[in-house]
Amino acid sequence: MNQEKPRIAIVYATAQGSTRDIAEFISDELAGRDATVELADIDHAPDLSRFDTLVLGSAVHNMDFLPAATDYMRTHRDELSRRDVWLFSVGLGPALRGPIGRRVGRIVPKKIATLRDSIAAHDYRAFAGRYERTGISLRARILYRLMGGGHYGDLRDWAAVRAWTDTIAQSLRLPQPRSTTIHP
Ligand SMILES: Cc1cc2nc3c(=O)[nH]c(=O)nc-3n(C[C@H](O)[C@H](O)[C@H](O)COP(=O)(O)O)c2cc1C
Repeated sequence: MNQEKPRIAIVYATAQGSTRDIAEFISDELAGRDATVELADIDHAPDLSRFDTLVLGSAVHNMDFLPAATDYMRTHRDELSRRDVWLFSVGLGPALRGPIGRRVGRIVPKKIATLRDSIAAHDYRAFAGRYERTGISLRARILYRLMGGGHYGDLRDWAAVRAWTDTIAQSLRLPQPRSTTIHP
């Protein structure tokens, strides 16, 4: 019976933890919908041959995935391109507001688009992460404001994460959740 459940690996690359929280949330949601789920930091990614589906997420730094994620995707490109991979990033784009911000926020950084396409990901979604005002240079703060960023702190949109997880669950024909996952 257990073997019939879809096996999903959820692998994340994080610098400050917000991507890990999102990966944990997706993991809890999918496990609550009767999938067999394994969650791992990208440095301890499991052997993919045991899984039907991979959900792979990385924080965005300097308009690219974190080096651990880019290395992993390059090294495992062939294996990944043969699999059902759902890719997500965690950055600031989706938190930008106003006519300019919304346009800028929709742009997928070139390096991320190239990686996404190199593995023919099933889907790619950008989520907002955390942005703390402390330690941000005046230049970066002005740029952020000009691009439509107004808020600092925890900018994560859990409804958006839940909706995307629901899309994955529906694609895998998982049953409805038995209970609602509470986000951090
Ligand atoms: C050094 C540094 C560079 C960043 N560069 C970008 C960037 O180019 N684009 C973006 O959208 N967010 C950028 N961010 C914001 C992070 O993606 C955001 O804080 C995210 O929540 C980090 O995820 P983590 O907590 O999992 O590390 C940067 C943050 C840092 C600290």
